[in-house]
Amino acid sequence: MNLCVLASGRGSNLKSIIDSYKKGKIISKVVLVISNNSNSNALNIARSNQIPAYHLSQKQFSTEQEYVKAFLDLLEKHKVDMIILAGYMKLLPAEIVRTFQNKILNIHPALLPSFCGQGMYGMKVHEAVISYGAKVSGASVHIVDEIYDNGPVVIQRTVKVADEDTPETLQKKVLKIEHKLFPEAIKLFETKKPTLVGRRVVFN
Ligand code: GRF
Repeated sequence: MNLCVLASGRGSNLKSIIDSYKKGKIISKVVLVISNNSNSNALNIARSNQIPAYHLSQKQFSTEQEYVKAFLDLLEKHKVDMIILAGYMKLLPAEIVRTFQNKILNIHPALLPSFCGQGMYGMKVHEAVISYGAKVSGASVHIVDEIYDNGPVVIQRTVKVADEDTPETLQKKVLKIEHKLFPEAIKLFETKKPTLVGRRVVFN
């Protein structure tokens, strides 16, 4: 599969996907990286790996329609099969979600359906987990639909929340498992056929 990774920030999940491909753990290749943030480190990571990288933001266009067309044209030009949201801070336009139905994955740094939704991102998630007093947290990869963090879960893994954890230490623990989980989710799509049973994803 040809992957397009959308990222807004640091890009460590992008790096883990590229590294998994280089090591032969997955056969899907990142062929395109798009960021809404021109300063995103994800663009640097892509360029240093000779992957086409674009800054694409709605602000560059006078209408939403032109923006969506430019987005879809890029995806088509690079023959993208699957879209990976790796720390992408924008809601994807509905037309893109519809065009790539069940072929868009997002990673969330907590156990869905907890600690999620609009405004629940980055350190805010880990702060909420700690202040709630949850004893486990983790990461979830899910299929993207038109609502934030709403689509069916593909794969989840837990980490223990220790009494001495701070949002910062919890983030580190969760990020470490994210870097394994995303490539595992991609591998599932490479090797098995996903079927939706209600809102459950079943792989055959
Ligand atoms: C990750 O914690 C991911 O779960 C969330 O955004 C963060 C992105 O980190 N959606 P990075 O840019 O991949 O380092």
